[in-house]
Amino acid sequence: MSSGFDPGVAHPARVYNFWPGGKDHYRADREVAAQVIKQRPEVVGTAVANRQFLGRVVRYLARCCGIRQFVDIGTGLPAPDHTHEVAQRADVWSRVVYVDNDPLVMSHARALLVSSDEGCCDYLQADLRDTGNILREARRTLDFGQPVAVLLLAVLPFIPTPTTRPGSWPR
Ligand SMILES: C[S@@+](CC[C@H](N)C(=O)[O-])C[C@H]1O[C@@H](n2cnc3c(N)ncnc32)[C@H](O)[C@@H]1O
Repeated sequence: MSSGFDPGVAHPARVYNFWPGGKDHYRADREVAAQVIKQRPEVVGTAVANRQFLGRVVRYLARCCGIRQFVDIGTGLPAPDHTHEVAQRADVWSRVVYVDNDPLVMSHARALLVSSDEGCCDYLQADLRDTGNILREARRTLDFGQPVAVLLLAVLPFIPTPTTRPGSWPR
């Protein structure tokens, strides 16, 4: 895996886009996606369920907890009902900072994850472990004196541990 843009190297966002039938992937991504499906066929259903979970979580936070600010780390390629769409349906003034380490994800996000006029979306290419940078940049968009929900959906398994084999796909 690489955090730079190289279509010859599979990347989580594009592999993940392939499973539920998205269109933003290259041959290397499709090959890895197919290998994972062979070992764990349930991964396709899991990807769909995860997107539905994202919608439920943001809806709950926005409607029931009054949260109006979100940092979505490990954003993934744009898909229907992305975080700001769900949040701004509850309140058009909601503000979202999207963070991903994949430059392709960020360029798609800038083009497609567009805020309501009243609210705001910002886009940050960063590694989730670079928390100082994320906090510094998110502060330009969010009011840290008000509640902020931090979403880390289907991204933590991509952080290597001391026992992770190089190039292996998270389990
Ligand atoms: C499986 S996708 C999940 C997308 C979305 N959160 C969802 O649940 O539908 C994982 C995303 O995390 C991003 N990612 C992986 N490692 C990351 C890291 N160290 N820092 C920031 N983003 C990372 C990938 O580029 C990819 O877009």
